[in-house]
Amino acid sequence: MTDADPTHDVVVWGATGVAGRFTAEYLTERYDPAELSLAVGGRNRGKLDDLVADLTRRSDAWNDVPVVVGDATDPESLRDIARNTRVMCTTVGPYTRLGTPLVEACVEAGTDYCDLTGEVNWVRETVDRFHEAAVESGARIVHSCGFDSVPADLGTLLVQSFARESYGAPCETVRIYLDGGSGSVSGGTLASFGELFEAAATDPLARETLRNPYSLAPRDERSGVDPGEQRRPRRDALRGEWTAPSPMAPVNERVVRRSNALLGYPWGREFRCTEVVPTGTGLRGAATASLVAGGLGAFTAAMSVGPLRSALRRYAFPDPGEGPTREEAEAGSFLIRLLGRGTGADGPFTVEAEFGTDRDPGYGATARMLGESAACLARGDVDSPFDGGVLTPASGIGLPLAERLREVGFTASVDEAGPTVGE
Ligand SMILES: NC(=O)c1ccc[n+]([C@@H]2O[C@H](COP(=O)([O-])OP(=O)(O)OC[C@H]3O[C@@H](n4cnc5c(N)ncnc54)[C@H](OP(=O)(O)O)[C@@H]3O)[C@@H](O)[C@H]2O)c1
Repeated sequence: MTDADPTHDVVVWGATGVAGRFTAEYLTERYDPAELSLAVGGRNRGKLDDLVADLTRRSDAWNDVPVVVGDATDPESLRDIARNTRVMCTTVGPYTRLGTPLVEACVEAGTDYCDLTGEVNWVRETVDRFHEAAVESGARIVHSCGFDSVPADLGTLLVQSFARESYGAPCETVRIYLDGGSGSVSGGTLASFGELFEAAATDPLARETLRNPYSLAPRDERSGVDPGEQRRPRRDALRGEWTAPSPMAPVNERVVRRSNALLGYPWGREFRCTEVVPTGTGLRGAATASLVAGGLGAFTAAMSVGPLRSALRRYAFPDPGEGPTREEAEAGSFLIRLLGRGTGADGPFTVEAEFGTDRDPGYGATARMLGESAACLARGDVDSPFDGGVLTPASGIGLPLAERLREVGFTASVDEAGPTVGE
């Protein structure tokens, strides 16, 4: 960063929204002002003042939290904020519509940045427009630091680091299983989801991004052996149970492939990853996999038809700003298991990892994943070869993030797999 002494370590930008508020609450609970100088930001001073009143009422350590006001569509206001900040931690979405000027301001100022985007079309846009400039200015732009895509990306990093240390070789395949969980969804998340479908319907580049499994890799490296998302029910050879396509696979798998590419292919050029939803064994497992795949297919088909998409967005989705209560965000859970298969000097091996916690994946857990990503960047607590660039959680922050999440109640473990796996 160019500014020698920025005023704020972290600005939670969009702090009046659902995910932003939970992130600001989490950071003021976890850190005191001497550990992390925090500010909250957004476009509405009155709402921000109310938020600060609430944050300070709930905390013994925080008597005040500075407020920064700007507008996501006013580049000059964003430049001022970015210049005075070490890390912009943003939940202002949909990112396709509202995210680009902030990335540009951070790249210009050499300010680090993390967000919650799952809009893979937009990530591709920032990769193409800003990666080289961010490398040049020393701005670490780390996308997808929430439920998309920290568990998949860091889980894969855990598997591959263990495989390389224990067996001297990476896994050729990593399968990511959404094994369980319960949580809620906010209007902001559905608005972003709607934006992705809108882009897929109207923008050929967005369609190409969703078609090519390697679309987030560096520009001249966008091909490879991995066929991409599983699209049908399939019996899984490693676990011996049925699986359905995962709705998050189009984002998470591409992020994981970008991590491998940015890091210089430590997991090999032949590396493949797939994220799926396990549905059990036997006829019941097969039937459930068909139901899940059918439901996802029907939703995708409906969202791909303009008038149906508009009707769903207008009448079925909650409005932006609506979402779970604090109690709901702190309830819920998720568990992701990963199995990696590789071949070392002594033959084939299998590695198993778990990533999860007892909080709503998209809100209570996401506030911790995003908040700790910002804290890692602000403190320089990263294991990454990069000082700048458009990065992923695994390539831009790495295992220190898993360590910090363990300290706040996450499981992030890895070991050799038990003898029954894959038999
Ligand atoms: N990856 C994950 O796991 C995950 C989980 C949760 C959310 N998300 C993503 O995070 C994003 C936010 O979700 P959310 O539910 O928190 O949405 P939200 O409640 O609608 O909040 C959006 C925030 O953006 C602010 N904003 C809107 N337009 C602005 C502008 N022109 N200038 C400055 N600020 C502006 C809003 O301010 P006002 O209060 O003034 O309207 C609000 O603070 C979405 O893209 C969602 O997909 C991802």
